[in-house]
Amino acid sequence: MSYVPRADRPIDKAEAYLEVESEILAVLEGETDRVARMATVASMLADAFDDYFWTGFYVVDPARDRELVVGPYQGTLGCLRIAFGRGVCGTAAETRQTQIVQDVHAFPGHIACDGRSESEIVVPVFDASGVLIAVFDVDATTKAAFDTIDAQALERLMARVFGADA
Ligand code: SME
Repeated sequence: MSYVPRADRPIDKAEAYLEVESEILAVLEGETDRVARMATVASMLADAFDDYFWTGFYVVDPARDRELVVGPYQGTLGCLRIAFGRGVCGTAAETRQTQIVQDVHAFPGHIACDGRSESEIVVPVFDASGVLIAVFDVDATTKAAFDTIDAQALERLMARVFGADA
């Protein structure tokens, strides 16, 4: 399913992302705590887009070898831990590249936390030094909900909130 704008959001998806990005940056002005920043991003993005069914972060666990642990999210119960290389999140962490999956059932090793998920996008999140700190995962209950517009907008937003452009 393609983007369906929420009533109070722009018709154009890229514009809707720009609008919510500026709202997020305004709310986060002066806040340096990473958990507070992640929680705010997850909440405001989930609220802005109707097709965001599960929205949140898997954080690189500094205490474990190449393992993600669930961070701030909005949605139904998520898996707690994901090894690098496993599922869509683990693949994004391993390759440090955004993953767009049109049909999760066709993705080898997809981790089904909630059987209603049909498609997803996972974006790697870097700090200002380029170190991978997390991945940002969005699941939708429809197939092919995400495309390169989502990828570009989310990569830009993550860079502005957590990375070199912050
Ligand atoms: N779908 C993810 C697992 C996390 S949840 O869906 C919340 C994956 O395969 O990486």
